[in-house]
Amino acid sequence: TDTAGVRRFTLTARPGSTEILPGKRTPTWGYDGSILGPTIRARRGETVAFTIENALPEATTVHWHGMHVPARFDGGPHQTIAPGARWNPTWTVNQPAASLWYHPHPHGATEKHVYRGLAGMFLIDDEDSDAPDMPKDYGVDDIPLIVQDKRFHPDGTLDESDPTDVGLLGDTLVTNGIAGAYLPVRTSLVRLRILNGSAGRMYNFGFADGRGFQMIASDGGLLRAPVALERIALSPGERAEIVVAVDGGVPVMLRAFPFEDRAGLDRSHAAQFGVEDTFDVLELRPAANLGRSAALPAVLASIPRPDLSAVAAERHFELKWFMINGERMDMNRIDFSSAVDTTEVWTVRNTDNWPHSFHVHDTQFQILDIDGTPPPPDLAGWKDTIYTTPGRTFRLALRFADYTDPTLPYMYHCHMLFHEDRGMMGQFLVL
Ligand code: C2O
Ligand code: CU
Ligand code: CU
Repeated sequence: TDTAGVRRFTLTARPGSTEILPGKRTPTWGYDGSILGPTIRARRGETVAFTIENALPEATTVHWHGMHVPARFDGGPHQTIAPGARWNPTWTVNQPAASLWYHPHPHGATEKHVYRGLAGMFLIDDEDSDAPDMPKDYGVDDIPLIVQDKRFHPDGTLDESDPTDVGLLGDTLVTNGIAGAYLPVRTSLVRLRILNGSAGRMYNFGFADGRGFQMIASDGGLLRAPVALERIALSPGERAEIVVAVDGGVPVMLRAFPFEDRAGLDRSHAAQFGVEDTFDVLELRPAANLGRSAALPAVLASIPRPDLSAVAAERHFELKWFMINGERMDMNRIDFSSAVDTTEVWTVRNTDNWPHSFHVHDTQFQILDIDGTPPPPDLAGWKDTIYTTPGRTFRLALRFADYTDPTLPYMYHCHMLFHEDRGMMGQFLVL
């Protein structure tokens, strides 16, 4: 932090090589290091200022996924950074404590840039996340997990070939940049901030021995109260914070399980998109004698209900093939404009037999209902990305607060990156 109270960061996107598989070097891209990027952390109310340098051989961008940020600093496909160039976004963080992330968003090449290793966590803190009983000792009982899948050639290089309709679906689970990850644990409760940073794979997380856990946060912040679960499903781009209790000396595996309902897909698409696969994600290895963690707070945060008495606009989005409302992304087409600081209701329908997700920039929304039914507790908090099951209809309440720009748009898109790159994306202005 400098004398003006601005928190300054520098990040360099660059090529490198990483030992993801034991004994093999894989050429990868990373921010500062050879893969992934440093965890960025700021408090609500702080101003952050970045110097981002592109030392890659091609143009990239850095997008702040989940962040309320001025459009010119959003890092979408209009904010490209040429090789050798720099970019200096700055804004004041004003949203609840959350586990956000940052990743490239170059038009048509997002999947490749993320798959090669460019992604990092961006954590926001506030008074709710400061609660004394929250596990929050970073790296000790508060652990970020960036979960990705990759596929390797025998020599250790990344296999980037043969994308199917799902894109780069890997056969090797990579957690925080390594295969076969484990974590020594010294406390009776562990908080895992899980990000599905995969290009196209969905995960249904749980523990191998069947133990349950408490979910405490969704994409955009803490839930109202902890929710007891045995499984949490995350599509690409989604996050969940969970807290699990461990026993001294008893290892337990965080695992990605097959989706019981095939994630709403028919048999052939379930196989194609990998939703019946099983992967070990992270082994927790508790010490024989554990420090005793406090019980979680019973109330985590207050989440105001959206005000539906004055809805400024209703919009409809149909997800099918590589299109939204029958159109593919065009950098020169603005699809609509939203009025700043008004409530909108968006109806999103996946009319495909493929899985799709739906992500909106600049805001955190709330799900009003799914096929007319209120969302389950894990989907009842702040969200910026949702899995849209084929055939289902999702109604979202959104608000775009205080940043306007007459020309530079924000994006909404499928966060399965192969679909996004193929044009399953649109643009809107906030005026
Ligand atoms: Cu995480 Cu438009 O992206
Ligand atoms: Cu985003
Ligand atoms: Cu899609």
